[in-house]
Amino acid sequence: MALLKSTKVFVCLGNITPSVGVMSARNSSWWGGVQMGPPDPILGVTEAFKRDTNPKKMNLGVGAYRDDQGKPFVLSCVRKAEALIAAKQLDKEYLPIGGLGEFTKACAQLALGADNEVLKSGRNITVQTISGTGSLRIGANFLSRFHGGSRDVYLPKPSWGNHTPIFRDAGMQLKAYRYYDPSTCGFDFNGALEDISKIPEQSVILLHACAHNPTGVDPRPEQWKEISDIVKKRNLLVFFDMAYQGFASGDIDRDAWAVRYFIEQGHNILLSQSFAKNMGLYGERVGGFSVVCKDNEEAKRVESQLKILIRPIYSNPPMNGARIATTILNTPDLRAIWLEEVHGMANRIIKMREQLAAGLKKNGSTHNWQHVIDQIGMFCFTGLKPEQVERITKEFSVYMTKDGRISMAGVSSGNVEYLAEAIHAVSK
Ligand SMILES: Cc1ncc(COP(=O)(O)O)c(C=O)c1O
Repeated sequence: MALLKSTKVFVCLGNITPSVGVMSARNSSWWGGVQMGPPDPILGVTEAFKRDTNPKKMNLGVGAYRDDQGKPFVLSCVRKAEALIAAKQLDKEYLPIGGLGEFTKACAQLALGADNEVLKSGRNITVQTISGTGSLRIGANFLSRFHGGSRDVYLPKPSWGNHTPIFRDAGMQLKAYRYYDPSTCGFDFNGALEDISKIPEQSVILLHACAHNPTGVDPRPEQWKEISDIVKKRNLLVFFDMAYQGFASGDIDRDAWAVRYFIEQGHNILLSQSFAKNMGLYGERVGGFSVVCKDNEEAKRVESQLKILIRPIYSNPPMNGARIATTILNTPDLRAIWLEEVHGMANRIIKMREQLAAGLKKNGSTHNWQHVIDQIGMFCFTGLKPEQVERITKEFSVYMTKDGRISMAGVSSGNVEYLAEAIHAVSK
Protein backbone atom coordinates (compact mmCIF):
# COMPACT_ATOMS: atom_id res chain seq x y z
CA MET A 1 0.00 0.00 0.00
CA ALA A 2 2.85 2.35 0.90
CA LEU A 3 4.19 1.89 -2.60
CA LEU A 4 0.89 2.95 -4.10
CA LYS A 5 0.74 6.18 -2.16
CA SER A 6 3.63 7.78 -3.97
CA THR A 7 4.31 6.38 -7.37
CA LYS A 8 6.49 7.55 -10.18
CA VAL A 9 4.28 7.90 -13.19
CA PHE A 10 5.56 7.80 -16.76
CA VAL A 11 3.05 9.06 -19.26
CA CYS A 12 3.76 8.10 -22.83
CA LEU A 13 1.30 9.08 -25.52
CA GLY A 14 2.59 7.90 -28.86
CA ASN A 15 5.45 10.15 -29.88
CA ILE A 16 4.95 12.66 -27.08
CA THR A 17 7.95 12.94 -24.78
CA PRO A 18 7.23 11.06 -21.57
CA SER A 19 6.51 13.35 -18.66
CA VAL A 20 7.86 12.18 -15.37
CA GLY A 21 6.39 13.21 -12.09
CA VAL A 22 5.72 12.15 -8.60
CA MET A 23 2.03 11.70 -8.05
CA SER A 24 0.07 10.48 -5.10
CA ALA A 25 -2.23 7.81 -6.55
CA ARG A 26 -4.89 8.73 -4.04
CA ASN A 27 -4.93 12.47 -4.64
CA SER A 28 -4.19 12.46 -8.31
CA SER A 29 -7.03 12.98 -10.73
CA TRP A 30 -7.49 12.52 -14.42
CA TRP A 31 -11.00 13.90 -14.33
CA GLY A 32 -10.74 17.18 -12.43
CA GLY A 33 -12.27 19.00 -15.38
CA VAL A 34 -15.36 16.80 -15.53
CA GLN A 35 -18.35 18.71 -14.22
CA MET A 36 -21.33 17.16 -12.47
CA GLY A 37 -24.06 16.59 -15.03
CA PRO A 38 -27.78 16.94 -14.38
CA PRO A 39 -29.80 13.78 -13.68
CA ASP A 40 -31.78 12.34 -16.60
CA PRO A 41 -35.09 14.25 -16.68
CA ILE A 42 -37.16 11.06 -16.77
CA LEU A 43 -35.07 8.53 -14.85
CA GLY A 44 -34.29 11.28 -12.28
CA VAL A 45 -38.01 11.35 -11.41
CA THR A 46 -37.83 7.66 -10.43
CA GLU A 47 -34.84 8.33 -8.19
CA ALA A 48 -36.77 11.06 -6.32
CA PHE A 49 -39.84 8.77 -6.11
CA LYS A 50 -37.81 5.98 -4.52
CA ARG A 51 -36.64 8.31 -1.76
CA ASP A 52 -40.22 9.38 -0.87
CA THR A 53 -41.74 7.57 2.14
CA ASN A 54 -45.40 8.60 1.58
CA PRO A 55 -47.41 5.34 1.20
CA LYS A 56 -49.70 7.06 -1.33
CA LYS A 57 -46.83 8.09 -3.61
CA MET A 58 -47.29 7.59 -7.37
CA ASN A 59 -44.58 7.36 -10.02
CA LEU A 60 -46.06 8.63 -13.27
CA GLY A 61 -42.71 9.60 -14.73
CA VAL A 62 -41.36 6.57 -16.52
CA GLY A 63 -43.25 4.98 -19.39
CA ALA A 64 -43.53 1.38 -18.25
CA TYR A 65 -46.84 -0.46 -18.14
CA ARG A 66 -48.24 -1.53 -14.77
CA ASP A 67 -51.19 -3.84 -14.12
CA ASP A 68 -54.24 -2.67 -12.18
CA GLN A 69 -52.44 -3.53 -8.93
CA GLY A 70 -49.64 -1.17 -9.95
CA LYS A 71 -47.21 -4.07 -10.50
CA PRO A 72 -44.79 -4.53 -13.44
CA PHE A 73 -46.51 -6.76 -15.96
CA VAL A 74 -44.92 -9.71 -17.74
CA LEU A 75 -47.16 -10.82 -20.61
CA SER A 76 -48.25 -14.44 -20.43
CA CYS A 77 -47.23 -14.91 -24.09
CA VAL A 78 -43.70 -13.91 -23.01
CA ARG A 79 -43.68 -16.48 -20.17
CA LYS A 80 -44.91 -19.14 -22.58
CA ALA A 81 -42.32 -18.22 -25.22
CA GLU A 82 -39.58 -18.35 -22.58
CA ALA A 83 -40.68 -21.87 -21.61
CA LEU A 84 -40.63 -23.01 -25.26
CA ILE A 85 -37.16 -21.54 -25.75
CA ALA A 86 -35.82 -23.06 -22.53
CA ALA A 87 -37.12 -26.48 -23.58
CA LYS A 88 -35.14 -26.27 -26.82
CA GLN A 89 -31.80 -25.99 -24.95
CA LEU A 90 -30.47 -23.61 -27.60
CA ASP A 91 -26.85 -22.50 -27.78
CA LYS A 92 -25.53 -19.06 -26.84
CA GLU A 93 -23.32 -18.42 -29.87
CA TYR A 94 -22.98 -14.87 -31.22
CA LEU A 95 -25.76 -13.61 -33.44
CA PRO A 96 -24.82 -12.15 -36.85
CA ILE A 97 -24.05 -8.38 -36.84
CA GLY A 98 -27.54 -7.58 -38.12
CA GLY A 99 -29.20 -9.88 -35.58
CA LEU A 100 -31.43 -12.94 -35.73
CA GLY A 101 -32.67 -13.42 -39.30
CA GLU A 102 -36.05 -14.82 -38.29
CA PHE A 103 -36.53 -11.86 -35.96
CA THR A 104 -35.71 -9.14 -38.50
CA LYS A 105 -38.08 -10.74 -41.00
CA ALA A 106 -40.95 -10.94 -38.50
CA CYS A 107 -40.19 -7.44 -37.22
CA ALA A 108 -40.44 -5.88 -40.68
CA GLN A 109 -43.60 -7.87 -41.41
CA LEU A 110 -45.20 -6.61 -38.23
CA ALA A 111 -44.56 -2.99 -39.16
CA LEU A 112 -45.23 -3.09 -42.89
CA GLY A 113 -47.79 -5.91 -43.10
CA ALA A 114 -46.75 -9.36 -44.36
CA ASP A 115 -47.89 -8.79 -47.93
CA ASN A 116 -46.26 -5.40 -48.37
CA GLU A 117 -44.72 -4.90 -51.81
CA VAL A 118 -41.50 -3.63 -50.16
CA LEU A 119 -40.96 -6.99 -48.48
CA LYS A 120 -41.91 -8.98 -51.56
CA SER A 121 -39.39 -7.13 -53.69
CA GLY A 122 -36.72 -7.24 -50.98
CA ARG A 123 -36.10 -3.52 -51.09
CA ASN A 124 -35.87 -3.13 -47.33
CA ILE A 125 -33.04 -3.90 -45.01
CA THR A 126 -33.97 -4.55 -41.38
CA VAL A 127 -31.39 -5.06 -38.65
CA GLN A 128 -31.99 -6.08 -35.05
CA THR A 129 -31.11 -3.27 -32.66
CA ILE A 130 -30.77 -2.55 -28.97
CA SER A 131 -34.44 -1.63 -28.58
CA GLY A 132 -35.86 1.63 -29.95
CA THR A 133 -33.07 3.83 -28.61
CA GLY A 134 -30.40 1.70 -30.27
CA SER A 135 -32.39 1.71 -33.48
CA LEU A 136 -32.68 5.50 -33.53
CA ARG A 137 -28.97 5.83 -32.80
CA ILE A 138 -27.95 3.44 -35.58
CA GLY A 139 -30.26 5.40 -37.86
CA ALA A 140 -28.77 8.70 -36.73
CA ASN A 141 -25.24 7.39 -37.28
CA PHE A 142 -26.22 6.12 -40.72
CA LEU A 143 -27.66 9.53 -41.63
CA SER A 144 -24.60 11.28 -40.30
CA ARG A 145 -22.30 9.14 -42.43
CA PHE A 146 -24.31 8.79 -45.62
CA HIS A 147 -27.04 11.40 -45.97
CA GLY A 148 -25.24 13.98 -48.03
CA GLY A 149 -28.37 16.05 -48.52
CA SER A 150 -28.57 17.77 -45.16
CA ARG A 151 -27.51 17.40 -41.54
CA ASP A 152 -30.79 18.88 -40.29
CA VAL A 153 -33.28 16.67 -38.45
CA TYR A 154 -36.68 18.23 -37.72
CA LEU A 155 -38.39 16.99 -34.57
CA PRO A 156 -41.97 17.68 -33.51
CA LYS A 157 -42.18 20.26 -30.73
CA PRO A 158 -42.19 18.73 -28.17
CA SER A 159 -40.69 15.30 -28.79
CA TRP A 160 -39.41 12.42 -26.69
CA GLY A 161 -36.58 13.86 -24.59
CA ASN A 162 -33.98 11.39 -25.83
CA HIS A 163 -34.42 12.25 -29.53
CA THR A 164 -32.30 15.39 -29.23
CA PRO A 165 -29.20 13.81 -27.64
CA ILE A 166 -29.46 10.74 -29.87
CA PHE A 167 -29.26 12.78 -33.09
CA ARG A 168 -26.96 15.45 -31.66
CA ASP A 169 -24.42 12.92 -30.41
CA ALA A 170 -24.44 11.36 -33.87
CA GLY A 171 -23.43 14.73 -35.33
CA MET A 172 -26.79 15.82 -36.71
CA GLN A 173 -28.35 19.25 -36.18
CA LEU A 174 -31.68 19.53 -34.45
CA LYS A 175 -34.51 21.72 -35.69
CA ALA A 176 -38.22 21.67 -34.82
CA TYR A 177 -41.66 21.95 -36.35
CA ARG A 178 -44.82 22.92 -34.46
CA TYR A 179 -46.86 19.98 -33.25
CA TYR A 180 -48.68 20.54 -29.97
CA ASP A 181 -51.14 23.34 -29.31
CA PRO A 182 -51.25 24.14 -25.57
CA SER A 183 -54.47 26.11 -26.01
CA THR A 184 -56.39 23.00 -27.13
CA CYS A 185 -54.09 20.33 -25.62
CA GLY A 186 -54.35 18.86 -29.14
CA PHE A 187 -52.55 18.67 -32.49
CA ASP A 188 -51.50 21.99 -34.02
CA PHE A 189 -52.28 20.78 -37.54
CA ASN A 190 -52.06 24.16 -39.26
CA GLY A 191 -48.87 25.08 -37.41
CA ALA A 192 -47.30 21.73 -38.34
CA LEU A 193 -48.23 22.07 -42.03
CA GLU A 194 -46.99 25.63 -42.17
CA ASP A 195 -43.64 24.75 -40.59
CA ILE A 196 -43.16 21.58 -42.63
CA SER A 197 -43.86 23.50 -45.84
CA LYS A 198 -40.82 25.67 -45.04
CA ILE A 199 -38.35 22.89 -44.22
CA PRO A 200 -35.40 22.99 -46.65
CA GLU A 201 -35.41 20.18 -49.22
CA GLN A 202 -33.64 16.93 -48.35
CA SER A 203 -33.78 17.56 -44.62
CA VAL A 204 -34.79 14.69 -42.36
CA ILE A 205 -38.19 14.83 -40.63
CA LEU A 206 -38.90 12.65 -37.64
CA LEU A 207 -42.49 11.48 -37.22
CA HIS A 208 -43.92 9.50 -34.31
CA ALA A 209 -45.86 6.70 -35.99
CA CYS A 210 -48.49 6.49 -33.23
CA ALA A 211 -49.06 7.36 -29.56
CA HIS A 212 -46.87 10.47 -29.73
CA ASN A 213 -44.60 10.84 -26.72
CA PRO A 214 -44.93 13.06 -24.68
CA THR A 215 -48.23 14.57 -25.84
CA GLY A 216 -50.44 11.56 -26.61
CA VAL A 217 -51.67 13.54 -29.61
CA ASP A 218 -51.69 11.85 -33.05
CA PRO A 219 -52.76 13.20 -36.45
CA ARG A 220 -55.96 11.69 -37.85
CA PRO A 221 -55.70 9.67 -41.11
CA GLU A 222 -56.85 12.60 -43.26
CA GLN A 223 -54.24 14.81 -41.55
CA TRP A 224 -51.53 12.19 -42.14
CA LYS A 225 -52.47 12.29 -45.83
CA GLU A 226 -51.83 16.03 -46.01
CA ILE A 227 -48.58 15.66 -44.09
CA SER A 228 -47.47 12.99 -46.56
CA ASP A 229 -48.26 15.29 -49.50
CA ILE A 230 -46.35 18.22 -48.12
CA VAL A 231 -43.38 16.08 -47.08
CA LYS A 232 -43.25 14.74 -50.62
CA LYS A 233 -43.44 18.24 -52.12
CA ARG A 234 -40.55 19.35 -49.92
CA ASN A 235 -38.57 16.20 -50.81
CA LEU A 236 -37.92 15.36 -47.15
CA LEU A 237 -36.45 12.13 -45.85
CA VAL A 238 -38.89 10.57 -43.37
CA PHE A 239 -37.70 8.83 -40.23
CA PHE A 240 -40.60 7.11 -38.42
CA ASP A 241 -40.20 6.26 -34.77
CA MET A 242 -42.65 3.49 -33.89
CA ALA A 243 -42.13 2.68 -30.22
CA TYR A 244 -45.79 1.96 -29.42
CA GLN A 245 -47.27 -0.23 -32.16
CA GLY A 246 -50.44 -1.66 -30.60
CA PHE A 247 -50.41 0.65 -27.61
CA ALA A 248 -52.35 3.48 -29.19
CA SER A 249 -55.50 1.67 -30.28
CA GLY A 250 -54.87 -1.89 -29.11
CA ASP A 251 -54.67 -2.91 -32.78
CA ILE A 252 -51.21 -3.43 -34.29
CA ASP A 253 -52.37 -2.86 -37.88
CA ARG A 254 -54.29 0.30 -37.10
CA ASP A 255 -51.30 1.76 -35.27
CA ALA A 256 -49.02 1.03 -38.26
CA TRP A 257 -51.39 2.80 -40.65
CA ALA A 258 -49.31 5.97 -41.09
CA VAL A 259 -46.10 4.03 -41.77
CA ARG A 260 -47.81 1.85 -44.37
CA TYR A 261 -49.57 4.82 -45.96
CA PHE A 262 -46.33 6.77 -46.38
CA ILE A 263 -44.68 3.77 -48.02
CA GLU A 264 -47.66 3.36 -50.34
CA GLN A 265 -47.26 7.01 -51.31
CA GLY A 266 -43.68 6.33 -52.40
CA HIS A 267 -41.72 7.59 -49.39
CA ASN A 268 -38.58 5.50 -48.89
CA ILE A 269 -38.60 5.80 -45.13
CA LEU A 270 -36.30 4.95 -42.25
CA LEU A 271 -38.08 3.12 -39.44
CA SER A 272 -37.29 2.48 -35.81
CA GLN A 273 -39.24 -0.18 -33.89
CA SER A 274 -39.23 -1.15 -30.25
CA PHE A 275 -40.67 -4.20 -28.50
CA ALA A 276 -40.20 -2.65 -25.05
CA LYS A 277 -43.77 -1.49 -24.62
CA ASN A 278 -45.94 -3.69 -26.83
CA MET A 279 -44.37 -6.95 -25.59
CA GLY A 280 -43.29 -5.59 -22.20
CA LEU A 281 -39.70 -6.54 -23.07
CA TYR A 282 -38.21 -3.31 -21.66
CA GLY A 283 -34.99 -4.70 -20.21
CA GLU A 284 -34.48 -7.30 -22.96
CA ARG A 285 -33.70 -4.46 -25.40
CA VAL A 286 -35.34 -5.75 -28.57
CA GLY A 287 -35.85 -3.49 -31.55
CA GLY A 288 -35.41 -3.13 -35.27
CA PHE A 289 -34.09 -0.53 -37.68
CA SER A 290 -35.26 -0.59 -41.29
CA VAL A 291 -34.33 1.32 -44.38
CA VAL A 292 -36.75 1.15 -47.29
CA CYS A 293 -34.66 1.45 -50.45
CA LYS A 294 -35.23 2.01 -54.15
CA ASP A 295 -34.56 -1.64 -54.98
CA ASN A 296 -32.94 -4.81 -53.70
CA GLU A 297 -29.51 -3.86 -54.97
CA GLU A 298 -29.58 -0.58 -53.01
CA ALA A 299 -30.83 -2.47 -49.93
CA LYS A 300 -27.81 -4.79 -50.15
CA ARG A 301 -25.40 -1.85 -50.26
CA VAL A 302 -27.13 -0.17 -47.32
CA GLU A 303 -27.02 -3.45 -45.39
CA SER A 304 -23.28 -3.76 -45.89
CA GLN A 305 -22.75 -0.26 -44.47
CA LEU A 306 -25.07 -0.81 -41.52
CA LYS A 307 -22.97 -3.83 -40.58
CA ILE A 308 -19.81 -1.73 -40.84
CA LEU A 309 -21.43 0.84 -38.54
CA ILE A 310 -22.69 -1.66 -35.96
CA ARG A 311 -19.60 -3.87 -35.70
CA PRO A 312 -17.37 -1.41 -33.81
CA ILE A 313 -20.20 -0.25 -31.51
CA TYR A 314 -21.56 -3.49 -30.02
CA SER A 315 -20.47 -6.12 -32.54
CA ASN A 316 -23.80 -7.93 -32.57
CA PRO A 317 -27.07 -7.64 -30.65
CA PRO A 318 -28.25 -9.74 -27.68
CA MET A 319 -30.24 -12.86 -28.54
CA ASN A 320 -32.62 -13.59 -25.68
CA GLY A 321 -35.23 -10.91 -26.28
CA ALA A 322 -35.09 -11.44 -30.04
CA ARG A 323 -35.80 -15.14 -29.53
CA ILE A 324 -38.77 -14.32 -27.31
CA ALA A 325 -40.23 -11.79 -29.76
CA THR A 326 -39.68 -14.14 -32.72
CA THR A 327 -41.32 -17.05 -30.92
CA ILE A 328 -44.36 -14.91 -30.14
CA LEU A 329 -44.65 -13.46 -33.64
CA ASN A 330 -44.13 -16.79 -35.43
CA THR A 331 -46.16 -19.15 -33.22
CA PRO A 332 -49.84 -18.68 -34.12
CA ASP A 333 -51.18 -19.55 -30.63
CA LEU A 334 -48.76 -17.20 -28.89
CA ARG A 335 -49.35 -14.46 -31.41
CA ALA A 336 -53.08 -14.66 -30.75
CA ILE A 337 -52.48 -14.39 -26.98
CA TRP A 338 -50.15 -11.45 -27.56
CA LEU A 339 -52.68 -9.55 -29.67
CA GLU A 340 -55.24 -9.99 -26.91
CA GLU A 341 -52.79 -8.85 -24.26
CA VAL A 342 -51.79 -5.72 -26.24
CA HIS A 343 -55.46 -4.97 -26.58
CA GLY A 344 -55.92 -5.49 -22.84
CA MET A 345 -53.09 -3.10 -21.96
CA ALA A 346 -54.36 -0.40 -24.33
CA ASN A 347 -57.91 -0.80 -23.00
CA ARG A 348 -56.87 -0.54 -19.37
CA ILE A 349 -55.14 2.74 -20.20
CA ILE A 350 -58.21 4.04 -22.04
CA LYS A 351 -60.36 3.13 -19.01
CA MET A 352 -58.01 4.98 -16.66
CA ARG A 353 -58.23 8.07 -18.87
CA GLU A 354 -62.02 8.01 -18.59
CA GLN A 355 -61.92 7.46 -14.82
CA LEU A 356 -59.41 10.26 -14.31
CA ALA A 357 -61.50 12.75 -16.29
CA ALA A 358 -64.64 11.64 -14.40
CA GLY A 359 -62.80 11.92 -11.07
CA LEU A 360 -61.74 15.49 -11.85
CA LYS A 361 -65.32 16.40 -12.62
CA LYS A 362 -66.52 14.69 -9.42
CA ASN A 363 -64.03 16.76 -7.44
CA GLY A 364 -65.64 19.88 -8.85
CA SER A 365 -63.01 20.83 -11.43
CA THR A 366 -64.40 23.33 -13.89
CA HIS A 367 -61.59 22.90 -16.44
CA ASN A 368 -62.19 21.02 -19.66
CA TRP A 369 -60.39 17.66 -19.26
CA GLN A 370 -61.60 16.14 -22.53
CA HIS A 371 -57.96 15.96 -23.74
CA VAL A 372 -57.24 13.40 -21.00
CA ILE A 373 -59.70 11.09 -22.79
CA ASP A 374 -58.83 12.12 -26.35
CA GLN A 375 -55.07 11.73 -26.11
CA ILE A 376 -53.71 8.36 -27.16
CA GLY A 377 -51.26 5.79 -25.84
CA MET A 378 -49.21 5.58 -22.71
CA PHE A 379 -48.86 9.28 -21.97
CA CYS A 380 -51.15 12.13 -21.12
CA PHE A 381 -50.02 15.72 -21.40
CA THR A 382 -52.11 17.08 -18.53
CA GLY A 383 -51.51 20.76 -19.21
CA LEU A 384 -50.22 21.25 -15.63
CA LYS A 385 -47.70 24.09 -15.41
CA PRO A 386 -44.23 23.53 -13.92
CA GLU A 387 -45.21 25.21 -10.62
CA GLN A 388 -48.30 22.96 -10.39
CA VAL A 389 -46.11 19.93 -11.07
CA GLU A 390 -43.81 21.03 -8.27
CA ARG A 391 -46.78 21.37 -5.90
CA ILE A 392 -48.37 18.02 -6.78
CA THR A 393 -45.05 16.30 -6.12
CA LYS A 394 -44.35 18.14 -2.90
CA GLU A 395 -47.85 18.00 -1.42
CA PHE A 396 -49.20 14.73 -2.82
CA SER A 397 -46.06 12.71 -3.69
CA VAL A 398 -47.27 12.40 -7.27
CA TYR A 399 -44.18 12.25 -9.50
CA MET A 400 -44.21 13.29 -13.15
CA THR A 401 -41.93 15.05 -15.62
CA LYS A 402 -41.74 18.85 -15.36
CA ASP A 403 -43.69 19.31 -18.59
CA GLY A 404 -46.83 17.90 -16.91
CA ARG A 405 -46.67 14.56 -18.71
CA ILE A 406 -48.07 11.57 -16.83
CA SER A 407 -47.70 7.93 -17.72
CA MET A 408 -51.28 6.64 -17.74
CA ALA A 409 -49.82 3.15 -17.40
CA GLY A 410 -48.96 3.97 -13.79
CA VAL A 411 -52.58 4.83 -12.94
CA SER A 412 -54.80 2.07 -11.52
CA SER A 413 -58.31 1.68 -10.06
CA GLY A 414 -56.67 1.91 -6.64
CA ASN A 415 -55.05 5.32 -7.14
CA VAL A 416 -57.02 7.09 -9.88
CA GLU A 417 -59.25 8.88 -7.35
CA TYR A 418 -56.27 10.10 -5.36
CA LEU A 419 -54.68 11.38 -8.58
CA ALA A 420 -57.88 13.22 -9.55
CA GLU A 421 -58.00 14.86 -6.10
CA ALA A 422 -54.36 15.87 -6.35
CA ILE A 423 -54.64 17.31 -9.87
CA HIS A 424 -57.76 19.21 -8.89
CA ALA A 425 -56.11 20.60 -5.74
CA VAL A 426 -53.19 22.10 -7.70
CA SER A 427 -55.17 23.26 -10.72
CA LYS A 428 -58.31 24.85 -9.22
C1 LIG B 1 -40.96 7.97 -28.74
C2 LIG B 1 -40.03 6.93 -28.24
N1 LIG B 1 -39.12 6.43 -29.07
C3 LIG B 1 -38.27 5.48 -28.67
C4 LIG B 1 -38.30 4.98 -27.38
C5 LIG B 1 -37.29 3.93 -27.09
O1 LIG B 1 -37.47 3.11 -26.05
P1 LIG B 1 -36.63 1.80 -25.88
O2 LIG B 1 -35.20 2.14 -26.15
O3 LIG B 1 -36.86 1.40 -24.47
O4 LIG B 1 -37.15 0.82 -26.85
C6 LIG B 1 -39.23 5.49 -26.47
C7 LIG B 1 -39.27 5.05 -25.08
O5 LIG B 1 -39.80 5.64 -24.19
C8 LIG B 1 -40.13 6.48 -26.92
O6 LIG B 1 -41.07 6.98 -26.12
